Amino acid sequence: MKFSSRPHDSAAGAPAAHRQRRRLLITGGAGFIGGNFVHYWARTRATDFVVVLDALTYAGNRATIASLIEAGAVTFVHGDICDATLVSTLMAEHDIDTVVHFAAESHVDRSIADPGAFVKTNVIGTHTLLDAARRAWCVDGQWKGGVRFHHVSTDEVYGTLTPTDPAFSETTAYAPSSPYAASKAGSDHLVRAYVHTYGMPATISNCSNNYGPYHFPEKLIPLLIVNALHGKALPVYGDGQQVRDWLFVEDHCVAIAKILEADVAGETFNVGGRAEHVNIDIVQHVCTLLDAEFAADASLAARFPDCPAARGTPCAALITHVQDRPGHDRRYAIDPTKIASRLGFEPAESLMTGLRRTVEWYLANEAWWRGVMDGSYRAWMDANYAERGHNVTKGAAAAL
Ligand code: NAD
Ligand code: TYD
Repeated sequence: MKFSSRPHDSAAGAPAAHRQRRRLLITGGAGFIGGNFVHYWARTRATDFVVVLDALTYAGNRATIASLIEAGAVTFVHGDICDATLVSTLMAEHDIDTVVHFAAESHVDRSIADPGAFVKTNVIGTHTLLDAARRAWCVDGQWKGGVRFHHVSTDEVYGTLTPTDPAFSETTAYAPSSPYAASKAGSDHLVRAYVHTYGMPATISNCSNNYGPYHFPEKLIPLLIVNALHGKALPVYGDGQQVRDWLFVEDHCVAIAKILEADVAGETFNVGGRAEHVNIDIVQHVCTLLDAEFAADASLAARFPDCPAARGTPCAALITHVQDRPGHDRRYAIDPTKIASRLGFEPAESLMTGLRRTVEWYLANEAWWRGVMDGSYRAWMDANYAERGHNVTKGAAAAL
């Protein structure tokens, strides 16, 4: 993937000569956010040593970081975070001083269909990593200097808000609604327990909805793009008035880097994009961007003849309201005051610039998304949307 050079492309606040050269274990580094983080870190902190541990579930794709593996910039290990022996061996063999923990089951709809997998990876897996890190880093009650465990979590642990509730702050009480959110809440509690009980130098970030390159096309934004390109329905759950706060994934990577490199062990930071929108507006924005891309580039009509925009019809014609998600959280919103004031973090992308970059990336990287849409992907799409009374894997273009 090509990234443009941006103001965030330096190890800000840590001049190269003085900053600690880290030896990182990045879990889930072949997934969406983890993969973007591995690219970001390799680009901005090239002298650090990086091991990626990933089980390559349906959501993990070696292709996402293959260029870095092949260039020798990262060491890739195919394995499970629940494998205590493997994790302890990696910590010792590579003398790891920094764990950045992304690995998780991450899709709310899948957690409703199969909650057990979420408890295993998100709760037991996180505990396995915490235990291995404590054994590696704490000898006779003394913690090694310069070590850090960073746990990547979600704003969904706070549950749902009404339209007038204040946004989630770091002191909002946990009230998770879905099995996914409950399993992430459990993992957050374990991290805090390790901080409180053993003095582990750990940090947590609770972030809002991410979007951007390498996003598996079962989540809303990439699903909209690939379905529209194929003339398939754009499924909107319920009335589409649910509110999410959206953050471009590379901004999330920058926020995590700031937390890792600040003297904030034991603390939690909420991370958001200052971009609260109802789902239906997100769907409309993606449609408008695709329409504009097709209007500007005639070759797209030849590449994607089933897309309505290939015939001058707005992609929004594909919008289809389907049965709602059970227990669907109505609104998430982040109060970003702490990370803004303490660490100077502000998102670089607005929703419109970030969505444009995302649409452009999917148009330029067809081989990546075609490669991940295998038989198991199609089986999931059939099962999830059949339950909602709609088969979104069938083309809708013919009806337009
Ligand atoms: P993802 O589903 O795209 O990727 C998860 C990665 O973890 C995959 O590469 C998968 O193969 C790997 N994995 C799963 N189980 C594993 C196991 N047992 N052992 C090793 N690897 C395993 O998820 P994502 O969207 O990149 O999310 C990454 C993290 O960020 C998660 O912890 C998630 O809770 C959190 N988060 C996500 C969002 C979002 O909008 N996507 C927002 C806030 C927080
Ligand atoms: P999603 O990308 O699954 O993230 P999360 O559930 O973690 O917020 O969904 C984002 C929002 O979009 C959420 O309110 C559910 C909604 N949604 C749809 O309306 N249609 C879809 O097909 C999907 C996958 C999600």
